[in-house]
Amino acid sequence: MKDLFERIIKDKGPLGKWAKQAEGYYVFPKLEGPISNRMGFNGKKLITWSINDYLGLANHQEVIKADAEAAAEYGLAYPMGARMMSGHTTYHEQLEQECAAFVNKEAAYLVNFGYQGMVSAIDALVTKNDVIVYDVDSHACIIDGVRLHHGKRFTFMHNNVESLEKNLERATKVAETTGGGILVISEGVFGMRGEQGKLKEIVALKNKFNFRLLVDDAHGFGTLGATGAGAGEEQGVQDEIDVYFATFAKSMAGIGAFFAADKDIIQYLQYNMRSQMFAKSLPMAMVKGALKRLDMLRTMPELKEKLWENVNALQSGLKDHGFNIGKTNSCVTPVFLEGDIPEAMAMVNDLRENYGIFCSIVVYPVIPKGMILLRLIPTAAHNLDDVKETIEAFSAIRDKLENGIYKRIAAAMMQ
Ligand SMILES: Cc1ncc(COP(=O)(O)O)c(C=O)c1O
Repeated sequence: MKDLFERIIKDKGPLGKWAKQAEGYYVFPKLEGPISNRMGFNGKKLITWSINDYLGLANHQEVIKADAEAAAEYGLAYPMGARMMSGHTTYHEQLEQECAAFVNKEAAYLVNFGYQGMVSAIDALVTKNDVIVYDVDSHACIIDGVRLHHGKRFTFMHNNVESLEKNLERATKVAETTGGGILVISEGVFGMRGEQGKLKEIVALKNKFNFRLLVDDAHGFGTLGATGAGAGEEQGVQDEIDVYFATFAKSMAGIGAFFAADKDIIQYLQYNMRSQMFAKSLPMAMVKGALKRLDMLRTMPELKEKLWENVNALQSGLKDHGFNIGKTNSCVTPVFLEGDIPEAMAMVNDLRENYGIFCSIVVYPVIPKGMILLRLIPTAAHNLDDVKETIEAFSAIRDKLENGIYKRIAAAMMQ
């Protein structure tokens, strides 16, 4: 018999096998200094486009003050225990009521981490007789939630309503034999490429099929819609989203997340969601900090306006310079270029070392072979100089890429 660790030590996994070449630079980089538009990296200040601090709250003085006051009053331990047992407070309840009101739902339930909460909510919402139909490009937390499902599941092609319809026909047949129901899952905004989920079209299918809709709006909450209530508000279908999810880890620059739905559904989650029943409650400092942030979302529309000024300048500037930014209709700004992985690494190195730009890089297998995706996250903390400098830098690196310079650098590095 083999020792379990024998394989683990030999085979570090699809990403882990690159650790030696990539660690500390392409993966696990250490960004230093206050979270802002320009942060320290390897001794240099770089324009930072890889932090989901959409509204620029992470380093906002009012937020830091509220967090510090809450931590000074309660410490980081309070309350102790799971919500159901000894971890419930008036502030947790208040935050839930305010989150529900903000996204126009009857009730809400807090979870400690978006990822863990989504896994657990999917687990709680379905039984083995139910059928899940979900977008093939769903976030890992949705995929892991579906993995816990003992019944049938179907994927539909990414943001493809025809494919969803076909799979709803299949799901309906299954559900009619098992006596179960159907849960459709989409994202409000797909975080890698920035396309909004086609919520309006999905919701229209409710006229033809019987299903409930769960939407992960991690990237839409606080950034889309007239009041910032997210992709459902933006597309005018918030009422038809049966279970709405948002995390505090992006536009709220905090930690924690919530589900919002009708009262009965939220009560069901309170009593059946294992990640909350068997885990410590969200600490008070986070809860009070989230109340402060939510208040700022409500009362400071200038934050979202500033965000969109930067988003529009960046996206239209990139398009004017001939860049392919895909089908984004959110703040997430992908820039698609053609090249292989070594070229992508040489290019990102050049961006950081010589052009002062720090952004995320996505390659195969997340996107098709031969493509490079540079993913930019504009925030309210950026300014138009950042945008201008970045577009100039991108034009320069694109020229180098097209002229084979990164291919030569990468080949030299490999020797
Ligand atoms: C679409 C989506 N859902 C869920 C999560 C997880 O949220 P959290 O960071 O609160 O665990 C993320 C975070 O990356 C996300 O992008």
